[in-house]
Amino acid sequence: MTTTPAVRILAIGGSTRPQSSSELALNVAAMAAQAAGAEVISITGRALMFPIYDTETTHRDPLALDFVEKVRTAHGILIASPGYHGGISGMMKNALDYIEDLREHDPSYLDGRSVGCISVAYGWQATVSTLHQLRQVVHALRGWPTPLGGTVNASVTKFDADGSCQDTGAAEQLAIIGRQVVEFAQMRQASTDATAPSANSGS
Ligand SMILES: Cc1cc2nc3c(=O)[nH]c(=O)nc-3n(C[C@H](O)[C@H](O)[C@H](O)COP(=O)(O)O)c2cc1C
Repeated sequence: MTTTPAVRILAIGGSTRPQSSSELALNVAAMAAQAAGAEVISITGRALMFPIYDTETTHRDPLALDFVEKVRTAHGILIASPGYHGGISGMMKNALDYIEDLREHDPSYLDGRSVGCISVAYGWQATVSTLHQLRQVVHALRGWPTPLGGTVNASVTKFDADGSCQDTGAAEQLAIIGRQVVEFAQMRQASTDATAPSANSGS
């Protein structure tokens, strides 16, 4: 009997701030994805601080190269951005711009990948506008945003030092997003396996 390998989910996000609330929100979704059977890899905070994406050179920072490779090999993605001035933070948008380097790959960009989008800001207005931007960027990259998106208002929802979230409504919202990314990735994996030519079909 063959066993299907676990789907790989890449969780990216956070800010440069210690105890970044967007990183903590990302972790809640990532833990739910892991509990749903996925292998989860995280790249967060300063590990996402790449040079500005440069179209005029093929030279890439090693951190950025590693990021692009992990995006390429992921079955699903979780993204959490802080809301800065009503939109995606510069660091997160710059990291997403690097997915341009997957343009010529097959599948290109985020094609076929489920993407859970989470925004964290200090007021509802910026959480909503930032989530909207994240989903638009994912669409532009040919990804499949999950049905539920996450909006965490950090003025209302607090995370404990250990990363747990006492706001059960917010925590459950984040967990659902983690599970939805895994569910879609598993469905894609099952359908790809079903349509792939059998190894011993002789063709
Ligand atoms: C440069 C900057 C701009 C911000 N702009 C907004 C904003 O427009 N609306 C808002 O509600 N919060 C804004 N905030 C607050 C952050 O969204 C909020 O603190 C969020 O929790 C930051 O995420 P972090 O904890 O991961 O650093 C801003 C914070 C910074 C540093």
